[in-house]
Amino acid sequence: MANKRHSYSFPTRIEYGPGAMKDFTAIVKGAGGQKGLIVTDKGIEKVGTAKQLQDYFTEVGIETVIFSDVKSNPTEENVLKGTNVYKNSNCDFIVALGGGSPIDTGKTIKVMATHDGPLEKYDDTKGGDKYIKNNMPPFYAIPTTAGTGSEVGRSSVITVNNVKTIIFSPYMMPDIAVLDPLITVSLPATLTAATGVDAFVHNLEAYIMETFHPMADGLAKEAMEMCVRYLPTAVNNGSNIEARGNMLMASTMGAIAFQKGLGINHSIAHALGVFYDMHHGLANAVILPEVMKYNLSRDQIREKYASLGTIFGVENDAETVIVAVEEWLKSMNLLKNLSELGVKSDKLKDLEAYALKDPCCPLNPKKVEKGDVVAILKNLI
Ligand SMILES: [Fe+2]
Repeated sequence: MANKRHSYSFPTRIEYGPGAMKDFTAIVKGAGGQKGLIVTDKGIEKVGTAKQLQDYFTEVGIETVIFSDVKSNPTEENVLKGTNVYKNSNCDFIVALGGGSPIDTGKTIKVMATHDGPLEKYDDTKGGDKYIKNNMPPFYAIPTTAGTGSEVGRSSVITVNNVKTIIFSPYMMPDIAVLDPLITVSLPATLTAATGVDAFVHNLEAYIMETFHPMADGLAKEAMEMCVRYLPTAVNNGSNIEARGNMLMASTMGAIAFQKGLGINHSIAHALGVFYDMHHGLANAVILPEVMKYNLSRDQIREKYASLGTIFGVENDAETVIVAVEEWLKSMNLLKNLSELGVKSDKLKDLEAYALKDPCCPLNPKKVEKGDVVAILKNLI
């Protein structure tokens, strides 16, 4: 589709490397930051990373306030409470530290710091993006997991009136994404594996999308190679900085690449998350081989899968690549069936109904028909 109009953006400044979090505080000082709101969650606060960041800011003479009242599925209440802390403390910048939830919350506090409520007004599906102006405070994001890539994203997902609501604006993009592998070493092996496969699936689903975006395709392919090579090491030896750093970067690259969109793997993972509270990365991992087999019947996807043989060190043949993916997942204890994760066969139709309505579903390069998701899931029960 090189003959059609497209709009691309790759503007995020990235500060990468061991010690980047410490160095970043001096960058904020140089930019004139005086008082910051650190948005995080209770878990990150407990392991001491938020305090560590606060100490680094203190060393350069910047005062900060920690706000950690953020749920794993962040709510409007979390955002409004954080906005009040920002305003009442006279802050002039925001730093989000954590996984996708604190980063999404921080992004939305940035909007509400200078925009009137209610938050519902900014619902992207109702054209709310047009109300978001570029008059917001500086916003920085420091991921503590390597998976979501939210640090380079332009949107957030916040539960408003019990509905998952997407708030989107190009102006919500963090001013700097800080990728410091040192702060991901404490992530346990199971979470490292699950979040890492989420990053792999972002890259894979973006890569097979037929939109003309060779830049994203290049990023996606390189990042998949990094995941295949480094994720097992990060899982088995969490303090390996080389592996942690490569996974952080692969996660960021995945989120840049999935500007192209995501597909049915994510739609089903979202359904498993809602019905069974299954970890997003684990859900993506468990269904991955069956979703790949499902997509094979479309020739364009088959060719793309085949081209990944080199990455896995096998023949460039789609079926062989799927076997290699299974072995890769098995090496990290992620080759499971859904019944061992509590999924019941009488729920498959409900899971399908949810997946078919998911916004990623229509983007899947193979058109998903009624009954297809049930068939995929049946093979995993
Ligand atoms: Fe994901």
